[in-house]
Amino acid sequence: MKTYKIAWLPGDGIGIEVLEATRIVLDAVGFAADYEHGDIGWEFWCREADALPQRTVDLLGRVDAAMFGAITSKPAKVAETELAPELQGKGLKYRSPIVRMRQLFDLYTCLRPCKAYPGNPLNLRDGIDLVVFRENTEDLYAGVEYSPVPGEVAEVLGRTAPAFKPFAGLALDDYAVSCKINTRKGSERIVRAAFEFARQHGRKKVTIVHKANVVRATDGLFFEEAKKVAAQFPDIQTDDANVDAICMWLLKNPLSYDVLVAPNLYGDIISDLGAQMVGGLGFGCSGNIGTKLGVFEPSHGSAPKYAGMYKVNPIATILAAKMMLDWLGETEMGRRIEEATAAVIAEGQVRTYDMGGNATTLDMGRAIAAKL
Ligand code: IPM
Ligand code: MG
Repeated sequence: MKTYKIAWLPGDGIGIEVLEATRIVLDAVGFAADYEHGDIGWEFWCREADALPQRTVDLLGRVDAAMFGAITSKPAKVAETELAPELQGKGLKYRSPIVRMRQLFDLYTCLRPCKAYPGNPLNLRDGIDLVVFRENTEDLYAGVEYSPVPGEVAEVLGRTAPAFKPFAGLALDDYAVSCKINTRKGSERIVRAAFEFARQHGRKKVTIVHKANVVRATDGLFFEEAKKVAAQFPDIQTDDANVDAICMWLLKNPLSYDVLVAPNLYGDIISDLGAQMVGGLGFGCSGNIGTKLGVFEPSHGSAPKYAGMYKVNPIATILAAKMMLDWLGETEMGRRIEEATAAVIAEGQVRTYDMGGNATTLDMGRAIAAKL
């Protein structure tokens, strides 16, 4: 069997603990890998003014895939004050490392399955099995934002958007602008990924999520491209929904949905909703997937208040490792990890605090490993 090169990016907070538990499972399933540690997270922002140092970017350029734990991020003003003294006052800006990884490596698919494993006491309802495809590189995450607004931008807006009355007469720092940028290419490829997945996995329906009735330019373009792709998959049922409405319908009729595809921000939001329906952030796993690299992570944050306590549920990260194996083509090992995880959940003997038990993060990892 091939030995894979895997970047190991624990980050900080509980990221370190959930990755430790996941490693127990990857070793137990017999995954052959050289793991290389990568620096990422708050500590590197404070010391180097870069939460994703260039050496880690270089590492990501030479591995088959990466496992990422979690990182702490703080508001811009706090970030500035926690910088090493010699780095302060230089106007350095904190940028989210995960958003940067997605853009630097064009990890355009964010794949987020939300499955209710039988016996999980946190399931909203049994039988839920959703898969969210979130566009991962553009939209409101384009990073094109202004606060205060530069004069040239204000001038263009004043000239081209005279209908927007609220900012007539405002000073440049009385408002802020974040650009939602969606491309035809970016929309097309995420929708295609969703339909191809549906076809490959025998899924019946893809729901296109948007708000094209209000956000006409960008969501209109997304929806237009989505419909073109859908027409090429006559074997898959297609429907669409506004993002606000889908939040109600998902809760009301969760079993009526299957694969959902959405622009970046809506995908971010509905995937948290989906995760909560199947047990919360301890069950929300995420794959950031491009053509050359995949970065797999739990969708939760670093939960600083639990850091060092080995208390949180590592299942989201363990399922992310299963997604990594699937993406690498090691689907048999992926299947075994999922089956082992499902067995531990179903038995209900080992449960972390979120599930009503008092097993530790590592107990959970070991219990799943023992099933392998
Ligand atoms: C996620 C997270 C990230 C996002 C944050 C941590 C930047 O919420 O992966 O869903 O907004 O994409
Ligand atoms: Mg999120």
